Amino acid sequence: MKGLILAAGEGRRLRPLTNTGPKHLIPIAGKPMMQYGLEHLINAGVRDIGIVVGYMKEKIMNYFGDGSNFGARFSYIYQDRPLGLAHAVNVAREYIDGEPFAVYLGDNIFGGNLVKYVKEFEQSDYDALITLTKVKDPSRFGVAEFKNGKVVRLVEKPKMPPSEYALVGIYFFRESIFEAIKHLKPSWRGEYEITDAIQWLIDHGYNVHYEIIEGWWKDTGKPEDLLEALYFVLDNLKGDIRGYVAETSKIIGRVFIGEGSKVMDNVTIKGPVYIGKNSVIGPNTYIGSYTSIEDNVKIEGGEISSSIILSNCQISIKGMYRIIDSIIGQNSKLIKKNNDRFGTVLVLGESSQVVF
Ligand code: DAU
Repeated sequence: MKGLILAAGEGRRLRPLTNTGPKHLIPIAGKPMMQYGLEHLINAGVRDIGIVVGYMKEKIMNYFGDGSNFGARFSYIYQDRPLGLAHAVNVAREYIDGEPFAVYLGDNIFGGNLVKYVKEFEQSDYDALITLTKVKDPSRFGVAEFKNGKVVRLVEKPKMPPSEYALVGIYFFRESIFEAIKHLKPSWRGEYEITDAIQWLIDHGYNVHYEIIEGWWKDTGKPEDLLEALYFVLDNLKGDIRGYVAETSKIIGRVFIGEGSKVMDNVTIKGPVYIGKNSVIGPNTYIGSYTSIEDNVKIEGGEISSSIILSNCQISIKGMYRIIDSIIGQNSKLIKKNNDRFGTVLVLGESSQVVF
């Protein structure tokens, strides 16, 4: 079986974080989000993986290379415009070359295991195996309608969802999906939808099966989704202190501190917390649970909880101040002085967001 990771697309809803790089490279606890999908496929024995790239493709290609660092073979397939998931699958037709294949959406983070589904599909004669999960807000997704235990209809982003079961971005197909894609017309949102291609298979009597997935799952379209994905990922974090921690500081619960990072005096870190490499925390700082701090970050003073701080940031807080539920992009500076006589000084990039 081959794998296909879809990682084209601009990630507009994640601007400004995606102004300088594709959303698929935004790290969640030390790993670009799409690496979670790649590792799922590789762990399930899928070693030949095509990565569909478009927006800022060089950054993805430079980061993941030919796959040898991951014990796999990566090939890059260029989609010139993000015309929809079915279009992205179709550009990979030559690469797939008649084999059964798994499609994993590069912005989906899944806490379960793919082994079971890969095996099931390989041993079956299904044309497609789709994965579903119960969600609170089905209108944001493709949604399944059931009759007598079978999926009879799939609707993309319905205003009136026919069920609570959303399509998860993990699909298994055979050659027949390319036949279905040939018959598609752009949807109301102007995209060639994989949901419509699967509907075509159902309508034409092909063998479409579904599984309700076990384990958490998150589609990271919006900034708040990134924070939620972080909560899931950190719930499975293994604590490990590879850096330096001053004697006057306290580490509580599961905390990962990467090589070369330093926790200075009078710091409390309450896990789960991830800290990457060569970052310096403190003195006199509180890092609360569900926080992820990437590499080369300097944080001094104040409190930070349930937030994502990307690499090379500098945060310096004089006096008491708490930052919560925030995402701070690479190379940002956040400074709070004691003397606030001049009000707040902001230099914000395009599409930034500040909530006071
Ligand atoms: O996350 C699950 C949902 O994913 C499903 O429930 C929906 O049925 C499915 O259509 C899809 O919906 P989204 O609107 O969330 O898809 P999005 O446009 O965010 O694209 C998902 C991934 O595919 C993302 O990593 C970018 C990539 N992509 C997207 C498009 C439109 C491509 O590689 N090429 C494309 O043309």
